[in-house]
Amino acid sequence: MKHTPKVLLIMGSVRTSRVCPRVTEWVAGIGRSCNDFNYEIIDLTDWPLPMDDEPGIPAMGSYLHTHTRAWSEKVASAEAVVFVTPQYNWGYPAVLKNALDHLYKEWRDKPAAIVSYGGHGGGKCSGQLRQVAEALEMRLVPTSPGITLSDDVIRHGASIDPDQDFVAHVEAIKQAFNELAVQVELANRA
Ligand SMILES: Cc1cc2nc3c(=O)[nH]c(=O)nc-3n(C[C@H](O)[C@H](O)[C@H](O)COP(=O)(O)O)c2cc1C
Repeated sequence: MKHTPKVLLIMGSVRTSRVCPRVTEWVAGIGRSCNDFNYEIIDLTDWPLPMDDEPGIPAMGSYLHTHTRAWSEKVASAEAVVFVTPQYNWGYPAVLKNALDHLYKEWRDKPAAIVSYGGHGGGKCSGQLRQVAEALEMRLVPTSPGITLSDDVIRHGASIDPDQDFVAHVEAIKQAFNELAVQVELANRA
């Protein structure tokens, strides 16, 4: 039987008024148009991990808390991840760093892509996240699409229409998904 790789799309925002779910659904749709992988959206509000609450060093791989073990299983169950994250003050949200820092070996060699968004596409955020993903030795794809949000969305809470507003980013996102599929293939061969 044909194996269907599982990909987690991890949302970087947990704000109550966030646009992240809308952006991530749209990004997932592009993924589904590229291949028949199984795309699952991860909302970190469903994975409440108290800030840095593991007493041990995650790199040692021994987790005390049930929530960390569940998170470990969830990440380990996927063959790739896509971080869909806003830029906050030139960085990526603390909740995402905390979710990364709870684990270690689960990220290693994991094919990964970063899709950022913000007023200028969130390039500073994806740059910082790239550095961390490299430290974790993830198989990060070279293309990091950066979706531009309008001033109206950022300052006045205007609603977004991704099909219309983000059309200029579709090709870059497809490219990232295609690169991710190559990394999944390479990881499976390794
Ligand atoms: C704490 C905070 C910091 C922000 N910093 C930036 C920034 O550095 N650059 C930027 O382009 N937008 C920035 N923004 C605007 C966000 O891009 C915008 O609010 C976006 O909708 C956030 O994603 P979310 O709604 O999914 O949380 C910031 C927003 C917040 C809440």
